Amino acid sequence: MAMIHEEIQSQIEKRRTFAIISHPDAGKTTLTEKLLLFGGAIRMAGEVKGRKAKKFATSDWMQIEKERGISVTSSAMQFNYQGHHINILDTPGHQDFSEDTYRTLIAADSAVMLIDAAKGVEAQTIKLFKVCSQRGIPIFTFINKMDRYGKDPLELLEELEQVLAIRSCPMNWPIGMGDEFCGIYDRQNKKIELYRKAEQPQSVALEGPGLEDPAIAELIGATRHEKLCEEIDLLDIAGDPFDADKINSGQLTPVFFGSAISKFGVQTFLDSFLKLAPAPHAHNSNIGLVDTIQTGFSGFIFKIQANMNPSHRDRIAFLRVCSGKFERGMTVNHVRSGKKIKLAQPQQFLAQDRDIIEEAYPGDIIGLHDTGTFRIGDTLCAQDNFEFERLPQFPPEHFARVFNMNAMKYKQFQKGVAQLVEEGTVQTFRIADRTEDLILGVVGELQFEVFAYRLKSEYGADIRLERLPYQLARWINLSASIDPSRLSTLSSLCVTDQDQKMVVLCEYESTLNLLQRQNPGLEFCSSPYEADQQDYVSTNAG
Ligand code: G4P
Repeated sequence: MAMIHEEIQSQIEKRRTFAIISHPDAGKTTLTEKLLLFGGAIRMAGEVKGRKAKKFATSDWMQIEKERGISVTSSAMQFNYQGHHINILDTPGHQDFSEDTYRTLIAADSAVMLIDAAKGVEAQTIKLFKVCSQRGIPIFTFINKMDRYGKDPLELLEELEQVLAIRSCPMNWPIGMGDEFCGIYDRQNKKIELYRKAEQPQSVALEGPGLEDPAIAELIGATRHEKLCEEIDLLDIAGDPFDADKINSGQLTPVFFGSAISKFGVQTFLDSFLKLAPAPHAHNSNIGLVDTIQTGFSGFIFKIQANMNPSHRDRIAFLRVCSGKFERGMTVNHVRSGKKIKLAQPQQFLAQDRDIIEEAYPGDIIGLHDTGTFRIGDTLCAQDNFEFERLPQFPPEHFARVFNMNAMKYKQFQKGVAQLVEEGTVQTFRIADRTEDLILGVVGELQFEVFAYRLKSEYGADIRLERLPYQLARWINLSASIDPSRLSTLSSLCVTDQDQKMVVLCEYESTLNLLQRQNPGLEFCSSPYEADQQDYVSTNAG
């Protein structure tokens, strides 16, 4: 037994499982490609090919992906680098992202926040950051495109603090930018890495006089040298000092500068990241924290994806391994149903190319064939029967009324809706006294199109969507029963969700504020499990 524990321990230490969060076009695909390159990888999944797909439409696992030229699903990649086993969880980059994107973050142990130096902190980054920050996971910042003119680096740090309310600690500092960009100064190792277009960067260690050395001025030019010395002085005096504990709890983000396209600064970033980022750790469950080593195999499903390959017409459930060793062919407890399931064909999930895997360890993501058994949030355990904490549900921001256009296909319509709700890409609501009316809520607008497309192509059902003006959904915590009509106004609508919980949809933040003022006895929560989620956040933050 001890041998297996040692094996798991050593595998866990090697593992880093993270997601890259960014706004579209910040360079996530480019950065991912460079990271994979260092690993000599490559197990490369759909998203990395996504950029090419934008132009050449090579991906065939979802027709709509071709039509829109974007990637609508998220996946993961694995590579080995200097003894580490790295899992990158990918998040769809288009602005019309889905609840899946958020949920993928729940399976990550840390996040890399990628920022375009010219654009600063953008809308989608803010949303994704919030989810990471609520979980208290460490966030590493890479400020990209230094080879172009962008915002002043100090201004960017200020933006992190003002927009995201996170303190930052620059691990390196850019020397010039755009055409003037000539490298980065590594604050910890006291060396300069010189940027050479289309060439290997050159590393120069500082001698006795340090940064003030006139030889450095010669190397990078007097003006840039003067600015660099001033800025580093300022950071040393007024900046936040490096603090590993604060980084670990997500209060402080280490910041790196670079240019992903030329690979510059990427390896330095990766090396530091691997040193600082946490290995997989215990997850919380209904019986307390689940030890990664002492507990037998366990994991939870965070994503279900249908039709990854239309010719197979299959669903894949993505499982994050949380404890123990996973072995192919294992029989496990499916805790929700109480059934035993044999996991015969686990896959390392790659978009078109799939590999059967023999074993996996905490931090790894495996793909399981699903014939309708799994639901998002399900726990699988080899020996035990505990359940991991419920995954948070994210409030939809776009709503539409759905009409089934072909009465003959009503059954298919119902089945399709039920399955897509199970996959967690859409949420459904009904108006209290008009239960035949179905309202769809999504996190990203594109999901409407995906929904209609999939109902047609997979279930043969034709639908019409009528957009509704609401932008906010709030679950009502009921202490006493109330008349739903009290919450339906000209700019709000009272509905029930798929679990018959009461929800109010509002057009504006001001509508919500008014309802809150008029109904002081009600609690307006941004998800049905907000209270649970608070527990989840606090237990995982440590
Ligand atoms: P995304 O996945 O975050 O959406 O971004 P992606 O990597 O596709 O990059 C978006 C654009 O930014 C691409 O240009 C890419 O080449 C460019 N880019 C990425 N990193 C850097 C960088 O460090 N410096 C500079 N100057 N540009 C960078 P594109 O014109 O849209 O595509 P392509 O023609 O280059 O493929």
